[in-house]
Amino acid sequence: MEYVKVAQVSELGSGAKKKVSVGGNEVLLANIEGSFYAIDNTCPHMGGSLYEGKLEGTNVICPRHGSVFDVTNGKVVERGTLFLIKVKVHDLKSYPVKVEGADIMIGVE
Ligand code: FES
Repeated sequence: MEYVKVAQVSELGSGAKKKVSVGGNEVLLANIEGSFYAIDNTCPHMGGSLYEGKLEGTNVICPRHGSVFDVTNGKVVERGTLFLIKVKVHDLKSYPVKVEGADIMIGVE
């Protein structure tokens, strides 16, 4: 696995998020109480950018139809709704993150 530098620790305080590009994928990087996590940024329903969504605790809420994903592991917490019907979503890929000195690195295969 190769680790790619995506941000500086000083850029992302607790509760902050950043959209980064890793291995051709858009990835959401978030600082949750001092720990960094990375999951795919694109909602599997209709492509909402989770970076534009709200972070609540360890969850991020899709800004388009409200599906909720756990940023620590990419798992679906709650499906959003469109026209009163629950949308179809699946778990997101999550990426290993490590901190080396002042750098935040994301692992890609
Ligand atoms: S695009 Fe994310 S819930 Fe519809």
